[in-house]
Amino acid sequence: MALDPAFLEELRARTPIASVIGRRTKLTRSGRNWKACCPFHGEKTPSFYVYDDHFHCFGCGAHGDVISFVMQSEGRSFPEAVAELAGEAGLEVPRPGPAQRQAEQRSKTLSDVLEAVQAAWTRRLHAPEGRAGLAYLRGRGLADETIAAFGLGWSGDGRGGVLAELQAQGIAPHLVAEAGLMRLDEDGRPKGELFFNRVTFPIRDRRGALVSFGGRILGDGQPKYLNGPETALFSKRRTLFGLDRARAAVRTVRPRGTPPVELVVVEGYMDVIALHQGGFPGAVAPLGTALTAEQMEALWQVSAAPILCFDGDAAGRRAAVKAAETGLPLLDLNRTLRFCALPEGEDPDSLLRRQGAGAVATLLDGARPVGEVLFDLLTEGVRDPGPEQRAALRRRLTEAAALIGDKGLAAEYRSTLLDRFFETFRRRPGQGGQGGKPWGKGAGAAPRPVRIMERPPLDAQATMHERMRILTAILLRHPHLLPEVEDAYCRLDLPAGLARVRAGLMDMAAAGDLPDAGALAAGLDAAGLRDEREAVLATQPLPLSLSAPDSLMDVEIGQEWWHFYALLNVRQFGEDIRADTERLCTGTLDERAWNSLRTRLLAWEALRRGEIDPDGG
Ligand code: UTP
Ligand code: MN
Repeated sequence: MALDPAFLEELRARTPIASVIGRRTKLTRSGRNWKACCPFHGEKTPSFYVYDDHFHCFGCGAHGDVISFVMQSEGRSFPEAVAELAGEAGLEVPRPGPAQRQAEQRSKTLSDVLEAVQAAWTRRLHAPEGRAGLAYLRGRGLADETIAAFGLGWSGDGRGGVLAELQAQGIAPHLVAEAGLMRLDEDGRPKGELFFNRVTFPIRDRRGALVSFGGRILGDGQPKYLNGPETALFSKRRTLFGLDRARAAVRTVRPRGTPPVELVVVEGYMDVIALHQGGFPGAVAPLGTALTAEQMEALWQVSAAPILCFDGDAAGRRAAVKAAETGLPLLDLNRTLRFCALPEGEDPDSLLRRQGAGAVATLLDGARPVGEVLFDLLTEGVRDPGPEQRAALRRRLTEAAALIGDKGLAAEYRSTLLDRFFETFRRRPGQGGQGGKPWGKGAGAAPRPVRIMERPPLDAQATMHERMRILTAILLRHPHLLPEVEDAYCRLDLPAGLARVRAGLMDMAAAGDLPDAGALAAGLDAAGLRDEREAVLATQPLPLSLSAPDSLMDVEIGQEWWHFYALLNVRQFGEDIRADTERLCTGTLDERAWNSLRTRLLAWEALRRGEIDPDGG
């Protein structure tokens, strides 16, 4: 059956071999791979290994990919096995037709054409006509072994020499055109060679088969790089330059104590080649475009946590956000991404040349998990956000977490991002978060802002948590209070359960009009926070605003909230009032803040008169 190779590739990508085999045979981890007792012969100790794209039994020699596994284990024919797997993956098997058959035939000859071109170009690099090209590559610091290992070549001058050479081997220009190496006229007839006066970079698929070329002009000139067009063999969105070599390097067993080879995505051809030469053989690059979902899938077949490397400037940051957005929906417990940001003005090639391998190793060691980087990227440049900005920011963070397909993982990211939000953007007059920090700088977590309230000893802490619970409970019953108390409430260092309720509450408030208590409860439950919500409301003894709310006026409910707030940190409470009073005098206090100040002054007065016992709750 002549099935489209691209379809089969897609099918293999969508039916990970380990999960297909794992459904039929019990697999156990063996390093990066899996092993099992061989399903094809009787054995007691496992000698059947499952790699990312094939299986192999060292006992009986059974061997194949996911399709042949289904064929061999279930006695199916090739079309039956394909149909079964396609069904599992939700793919439709394309009907094979004569055109398909022809396409297959053609792609076979196309790869012959590419190989012939590759041979002609590498030979030219070392002939007199390639002298300038070879000098250019050496001038960029490439050793002759590197040039040979990557198969770099010289395209010739475009005056027909290469075409004549191919013709002599029986390769007509229309075939060269089909391989994507000719410019075409308006009627689609071959007009001249696409690559001339360029050094050439063969592009191989992950198995090492030649699929296209890139070419760089010597020195300055436009376009700097040229890539072959899409052909029957070459799909840009699926291909990563260097993946064949990186994959082999990542998989090579390393001596004990040697750090593993990291799979690293960089921007350009030269970066990949320089990194390989400099001792980082896990480097790959997309082909002049943003990283696609297909390319990420290809990366994850090699490593569970590839490192994406971006420029340290604004464009690099945008590219990183875009990559995170592409990657988030695809994350699960075994597939994640790490990010690192280059020093501004450097690419990996220049960094390596100027500062050496140590600098690159440090950069890669500092790669940070996507969740951490995401927070910095999305809050970049934010200082001292006002209420609207805070709401927008929070929404951006929750929306980012919601992109993750795996529900459990999405919930984890959501609470981590929101925790960091509340930690970083605790409101404090005249002082914002740590906005403005370059997103990629330094390894490890960002420095945390000073906590407004130091952690007290344990029993005192229990009392404080109880008060925080009351504050939260009052808000659940009286959400209209939120605008007046939001700033103060959001800077509390709440315990985890309460923090989740707060995040849910803030999300709903940020999403539009303030909900009433009923809608709020329903919304929290729908967000999976029912247990936490009920725990909040289980508060005993109940303050008046909860036990007999109808007997109180709004301002009294607000007053009660501020009482409990004041009990958490009287000094802070007093300072806030003083600061707002000063703003009142200078005319910079808005109406919302004035309402809040009025209520706080009432609460302050009541507290001062001793109407509420600070330790009684
Ligand atoms: P850069 O312009 O960042 O160049 O392109 P570079 O990799 O540092 O190249 P050198 O060091 O000047 O040789 C990054 C990648 O973007 C694609 C290529 O894949 C390149 O490697 N690109 C760039 C193009 O496709 N066309 C261009 O004109 C430029
Ligand atoms: Mn460069």
